[in-house]
Amino acid sequence: MFYDSLPFRAVAADVLLAVENGQSLSQCLPYALSQLPPEQRPQLQAICYGTCRWFHRLDGELNQRLKKPIRKPDRVIHHLMLVALFQLRFSEQATYAVLNETVEACRALDRPHLTGLVNGVLRAAEREGAPEPSDDSSRFSHPVWMVEKLRHNWPEHWQAILDANNTQAPMTLRVNALRFSRDEYLKLLTDAGIGAKATRFAPLGIQLERPVPVDNLPWFEDGAVSVQDEAAQLCTTLMDLQPGQRVLDACAAPGGKTCAILESCAELSEVIAIDESQDRLPRVQENLDRLDLSASLIQADAADTEQWWDGQAFDRILLDVPCSATGVIRRHPDIKLLRRESDIVPLAGIQLGLLNAMWSILKPGGRLVYATCSVFPQENHRIIQRFLKQQEHAQLIPIDASWGLDMDAGRNLLPDPNSHDGFFYAVLEKPDA
Ligand SMILES: C[S@@+](CC[C@H](N)C(=O)[O-])C[C@H]1O[C@@H](n2cnc3c(N)ncnc32)[C@H](O)[C@@H]1O
Repeated sequence: MFYDSLPFRAVAADVLLAVENGQSLSQCLPYALSQLPPEQRPQLQAICYGTCRWFHRLDGELNQRLKKPIRKPDRVIHHLMLVALFQLRFSEQATYAVLNETVEACRALDRPHLTGLVNGVLRAAEREGAPEPSDDSSRFSHPVWMVEKLRHNWPEHWQAILDANNTQAPMTLRVNALRFSRDEYLKLLTDAGIGAKATRFAPLGIQLERPVPVDNLPWFEDGAVSVQDEAAQLCTTLMDLQPGQRVLDACAAPGGKTCAILESCAELSEVIAIDESQDRLPRVQENLDRLDLSASLIQADAADTEQWWDGQAFDRILLDVPCSATGVIRRHPDIKLLRRESDIVPLAGIQLGLLNAMWSILKPGGRLVYATCSVFPQENHRIIQRFLKQQEHAQLIPIDASWGLDMDAGRNLLPDPNSHDGFFYAVLEKPDA
């Protein structure tokens, strides 16, 4: 579709249709943004993220209001109405502008026969106000399966997790310890008029009062800081990195943790960063370049060690596995639409396979840190328990930390509206031969 001639609500509707059809916002939004005039871009971004965040609530309301579903070829108009409902319910936009411009957008999408329906549905929505959510899926605005799985997995925390997922995550920085101390950088931020505070758990973390473009951050281009959630930063506190070690980051892109590893111990003998994705691996190099760090990058399936491994075992391995990403829904609300319940079992199979493969190339006496940004035990401590049954000599190292919840085999951080994302860590050591 040619976006440059369309009103931004029509573009948003088409982006949401693409998400419904399986594309992530990070795949389809950049192109759409590039086609709009700069002054409309923040609004398009806010609408796409906001409509995904509240999709299940808004979709519940829209389906109640429609006497019969919109025909499949006109599905984009269903999304256009969701966009308008998002603006009516969750934004400060003037109602008349939302109504009139949504009808215009319907025309611009070449569906003049549906303008009457759009107008009628939105006028009723405006007049009658938001209905009471009919179930927990619309109340918490998550797919039914996710609500049920979280309720089952976290009987004491499921509502807090769902609520946290609907908040906007703070912007958090990791100070490059090779350049500045955290206090020094906090001072630079204060001097630049950017409100910020030290994070509670991550020793180099700084949480900003409100997000700012990275170009406004002092010395960003020169590698002073990186944007990284507090929970993700904790990986280096668990790796016990020492000079001279050979380190593998087995699932590395876009390289946030590879760079954190290199910053936290300047004299490692070698760091190898692997990622399977040809598209994502270059982002590791971009991050290394900006921070003036170096690592050996390999594009490969890490589990296929015959293909890439030189036979020299690693002292430290970070295994930040592909996962459901259910701990980072507040940053990626499209996960609510993209993830399926049936994804979890195959993901768990991949995670356990990667863990066994990485174990085989860890030195005796070496340490492996397993990480996910998931809140499902199936991808977290249950993987570790299954692994420990298969590798009876593996030692689970207790994590003595003030963050997260002890899961017997690892620690889980649940998403916290005031600070970190949802995350899981487990530390394993291979006994000396
Ligand atoms: C959670 S992300 C890693 C995030 C990264 N560690 C960071 O902190 O920036 C998982 C990554 O694993 C990669 N991946 C998935 N399966 C893989 C495999 N079998 N071998 C290597 N990389 C894989 C994906 O392409 C994705 O980039």
